[in-house]
Amino acid sequence: MSVIENAIKRLQASQGAAPKGRVLPPATARRLESTGNTTTSTRIIPIDLDGLRSVGLLPPAHQERELAQQYRQIKRPLINNALGRGVERLPEGNLVMIASAVPGEGKTFTSINLALSIRLEEDVTVLLVDGDVVNPRLSQIMGADDVRGLLDVVKDPSLSLSSAILQTDIPGLSFLPAGHQDANATELLASARMQDVISQLSQQDPSRLVLFDSAPLLLTTESHALTEVAGQILMVVRADQTPQHVVLEAIETLSESKSVSLVLNQSMKQPHAGYYYRYANRKSGDKENGS
Ligand SMILES: Nc1ncnc2c1ncn2[C@@H]1O[C@H](COP(=O)(O)OP(=O)(O)OP(=O)(O)O)[C@@H](O)[C@H]1O
Ligand SMILES: [Mg+2]
Repeated sequence: MSVIENAIKRLQASQGAAPKGRVLPPATARRLESTGNTTTSTRIIPIDLDGLRSVGLLPPAHQERELAQQYRQIKRPLINNALGRGVERLPEGNLVMIASAVPGEGKTFTSINLALSIRLEEDVTVLLVDGDVVNPRLSQIMGADDVRGLLDVVKDPSLSLSSAILQTDIPGLSFLPAGHQDANATELLASARMQDVISQLSQQDPSRLVLFDSAPLLLTTESHALTEVAGQILMVVRADQTPQHVVLEAIETLSESKSVSLVLNQSMKQPHAGYYYRYANRKSGDKENGS
């Protein structure tokens, strides 16, 4: 635990002023039609980059280069762990959950920006999953909040996973919506059928990273079910906002065997001043890999 505490101290030491986010106007969402019972989705959804920017989920044009550089640093160890490049491949390391202790720390922002950065890799593709089944904002933004998605596929074994995955007009990027809301979402995500779906997600394409946007750890049980299936967890910590004990409390809920990385979000400090730290395995004690 001392490793994590040190990490948080260093994260706190590097905190700075944060650019403010904006509220999503519903007008930006485009709805997809509900699908038929096809086994493979051929629909291509357009990703409206200007729309994402206008709702604060992409950086403004003048900050694009800087953010792109920061996401390059963040994605590299995740990709290396997932694909076993220069390091031992992590079990299910291609399944990456973007988590946070409390709402509004930047999970959805990070999920989108990381996905767009990873898809630029020559030989890696990315599937962005709306795993925030409590508040599926990503699905709404994509105009896919009323179509088949993760929960539907887990609930109904007759539905194929492929039929729910939407291709996007951005090469290398696909999207799996959250699906229709279900009162038993936690139980569905913790079910044996979820394990099947997760195995398929992991094995369908060995060169694909699957990023799960998620709900806040300290407020939802649904997010805990996702931590069990992810091979890597990227904890987003909002600079100047989230107290250390809150981050620690959230990290305490994660299985000891999980690979946990921390991202300090919305900090005005330069990344090389301590923006991003990762810890390969908390079981291994005090082996700390900074960047
Ligand atoms: N690095 C960043 N730079 C600028 N704005 C950001 C950044 N990260 C997040 N934001 C802004 O902060 C707000 C909250 O971010 P986001 O929706 O990603 O949080 P979240 O963790 O997904 O919240 P929730 O738990 O409610 O789903 C958004 O309005 C977003 O525009
Ligand atoms: Mg979110």
